[in-house]
Amino acid sequence: MLSFRSLISLLPLVGVALAQSSSYTDSGITFQGITESVHGVTYGFVLPPAGSTGSLATEFIGEIIAPIANKWVGIALGGQMADNLLLVAWPNANSIVFSPRYTTGYVQPTVYAGPTITTLQSSVNATAWKWIYRCQNCTSWQGGSLDTTGSPVVAWVISNEAVDTPSNAASNFNEHDDFGFWGEIFSSANSPNYSSYLGSSSSTTTSKSSTTTSKSSTTTSSKSTSTTTTSSKSTTTTTSTKTTSTTTSSTKTSTTTSSGATQTKYGQCGGNGYTGPTTCAPPATCSAVSPPYYYQCL
Ligand SMILES: *[C@@H]1O[C@H](CO)[C@@H](O)[C@H](O)[C@H]1NC(C)=O
Ligand SMILES: *[C@@H]1O[C@H](CO)[C@@H](O)[C@H](O)[C@H]1NC(C)=O
Ligand SMILES: *[C@@H]1O[C@H](CO)[C@@H](O)[C@H](O)[C@H]1NC(C)=O
Repeated sequence: MLSFRSLISLLPLVGVALAQSSSYTDSGITFQGITESVHGVTYGFVLPPAGSTGSLATEFIGEIIAPIANKWVGIALGGQMADNLLLVAWPNANSIVFSPRYTTGYVQPTVYAGPTITTLQSSVNATAWKWIYRCQNCTSWQGGSLDTTGSPVVAWVISNEAVDTPSNAASNFNEHDDFGFWGEIFSSANSPNYSSYLGSSSSTTTSKSSTTTSKSSTTTSSKSTSTTTTSSKSTTTTTSTKTTSTTTSSTKTSTTTSSGATQTKYGQCGGNGYTGPTTCAPPATCSAVSPPYYYQCL
């Protein structure tokens, strides 16, 4: 199973042949996006008209359409897991639960305050779930920003395993099962119809206070309402092959229990916060894959 750290570690190795977004229309909205071929998940974006100013210039409309086997789906707006705004969503009964997340390393991303996310339309049926959302204050974040006039690399992640508590937007979740990247041509995503797309939405998520509720009114076809207030404090447990990490604050702090003096091939052998084995079982050697975050036995 691939892990958060794989996403971090592989990014620098991404070559030139990335899928590029194109224009498509769904639910009356013309998006710029892709349908990723392995899992069949569609990721789309619409930007406000070019030249928009003020808060309008910091938002976008997004869409995720996912076959039901994808139990949760995430987008890393900056193209990698660490130090980027992550958007994570999953179905819960007939509605979509969603959460902005952030992590500085390869641990459970915690809820991130700042973005205001509103569901514009959503649906869940026997074969797929769909979420169309407005993401305000979403084009910059701690340590980064979205290149809305270019074609930046965006990353997707999917999991075949549901989050721990689907009703809770602050739920922990397992490491994703797969991930990939595409070139999102934001320079072609501006729409003169942006404000009409915002239309009749009525739900809001504000990531600002210290308690968490996840309340979802549900419909099977459109306009579901979710109100989520996210938490600044979260409890994180991450388990991987040889490492148990427990974090009990919004800051990443790992306590690592490791066994064995050598790490196996592809295992982690170094990086910020890592305290496990730093020696690789031969013939693998410890390689700086994504310093200072991740060193891997290769
Ligand atoms: C926008 O988000 C950032 C975090 O990325 C936060 O610091 C800031 O207060 C937010 N601005 C508004 C107007 O909510
Ligand atoms: C289920 O939802 C998907 C995504 O919105 C849609 O394409 C499909 O037609 C729906 N299937 C049924 C049987 O309604
Ligand atoms: C904007 O909306 C109008 C009316 O629905 C439509 O004819 C036009 O093609 C749309 N333009 C774009 C760029 O989506």
